[in-house]
Amino acid sequence: MDAIEQVLAKARAELVIHEAGRVASVGPGVARVRGLPGVQSEELVSLHGRLLGLAYNLDPDEVGVVLLGASNELAAGSFAHRTGRILDVPVGGELVGRVVDALGNPLDELGPLRTRQRRPVERPSPPILHRAPVTRPLQTGLKVIDSLLPIGRGQRELILGDRQTGKTAIALDTILNQHGRDVVCVYCSIGQRSSAVAEFLAYLRRHDALSYSIVVVASGNEPPGVQYIAPYAATTIAEYFMEQGRDVLIVYDDLTRHARAYRELSLLMRRPPGREAYPGDIFYVHSRLLERATQLRPERGGGSLTALPIAETQSQNISAYIPTNLISITDGQIVLSPQQFRKGILPAVDVGRSISRVGGKAQLPCYRAVAGELRLSYAQFEELEVFARFGTRLDEASIATLERGRRVREVFNQLQYQPMPVAEQVAVLLAASEGQLNAVPVKQVSKAEQMIRSRVTSELPAICQRMESGEPLSDEDRAELLRVIEEVLTAFEEAAS
Ligand SMILES: Nc1ncnc2c1ncn2[C@@H]1O[C@H](COP(=O)(O)OP(=O)(O)O)[C@@H](O)[C@H]1O
Ligand SMILES: [Mg+2]
Repeated sequence: MDAIEQVLAKARAELVIHEAGRVASVGPGVARVRGLPGVQSEELVSLHGRLLGLAYNLDPDEVGVVLLGASNELAAGSFAHRTGRILDVPVGGELVGRVVDALGNPLDELGPLRTRQRRPVERPSPPILHRAPVTRPLQTGLKVIDSLLPIGRGQRELILGDRQTGKTAIALDTILNQHGRDVVCVYCSIGQRSSAVAEFLAYLRRHDALSYSIVVVASGNEPPGVQYIAPYAATTIAEYFMEQGRDVLIVYDDLTRHARAYRELSLLMRRPPGREAYPGDIFYVHSRLLERATQLRPERGGGSLTALPIAETQSQNISAYIPTNLISITDGQIVLSPQQFRKGILPAVDVGRSISRVGGKAQLPCYRAVAGELRLSYAQFEELEVFARFGTRLDEASIATLERGRRVREVFNQLQYQPMPVAEQVAVLLAASEGQLNAVPVKQVSKAEQMIRSRVTSELPAICQRMESGEPLSDEDRAELLRVIEEVLTAFEEAAS
């Protein structure tokens, strides 16, 4: 017998049943399919040979399918097949440094991904018993956030603000600040202009931050189904590292657009609209996403997933439907103010309306020397400033509060792409909160700040080291810091006069 006959003898004819349906109609981003009676919810359906879709609405005689790609070639009558698979993405260390789409296909020119594993896009969030409290800080490198609104690893902190108020900038600076800190960063862009994404990528590259980051892009011209799955896919990619015991930061930019994509899908599927025309399950859509962020217990590897979802408000209306939902799901919010942005107070964080609910316990102990005092006096200052605008005559104590507050605000001011190390932050914040900067004209504060930073790092390396490593600021260290600051400022004033 020759080889062919041997193979034929072994082969047995088997009946394989494929369900083959037909597309009944195609809409923007969705299709209706007839003839797939056994299809399961969220099963992948192959349309017209190449295009994939998600079985979404299971009606008795028709399936509503969310398209995961361009529908140009699809028409009524095209074939549709069940695949028996659910949507998954490649995961693994190979993804670091890469730019991928929502299905995990590379968008950069670094060739195919050689990952060995795939994981479902929708995964259950870690059970309570696997979770540990948030106790370790995630430094953003931004003074106003690290001191007053500290973020802990495993926390979910919403960044909320109108368009063009610096939301993306805060996320970008936080990613840049993870340079050399063994944190994997995942940036998920949803529904943005491609040019904005390209710009973001250029900044990441320029600051050498892509080497420890993964970018997942579903831009605004993708079908709504792709935008809808993008954050879940990005989270699956991020969870892989968390489950290896690593610390991961994920940014969703932004969930307002994500909600809009989901609304579009639901309306196309003729699901009943609710408030602001969003479907009734929009809360669940975001809560099941953000619930996946956590700090795992040591027995579970001790990894963490910190989430920074971004939401865009319109005319500062934080009580609109999506922002309120997100506020109630997250552990706090950083609210950005367009008024402050216009005045050039950057980052434009509205300290009075922002909060970080779990981060306080995770804040590095050295910040405690300054944070409590700063928060209180800054709040007083903001109140007083409004009052002072009416030209009221103020007593001396109020004038002092005003003068100090102006300098604290000047110190909080921080340009983009300049995240600051812990010890330097504490040194300048100490100078401001102790009123040592009061003699410096407000316009010169940033110059004085530079000098304090360089002197403190060069003269007190041991103290800086202790602060970074999580030791509290002892009284001697504090006195030593204040002494050096005093020296710097005396020299500064002499040079100025
Ligand atoms: N701290 C900052 N210093 C200087 N420029 C900033 C700062 N934060 C934001 N910007 C600038 O403001 C503009 C809007 O910021 P962006 O983060 O894109 O806003 P949003 O994401 O809220 O629309 C950008 O050009 C950005 O470079
Ligand atoms: Mg933005």
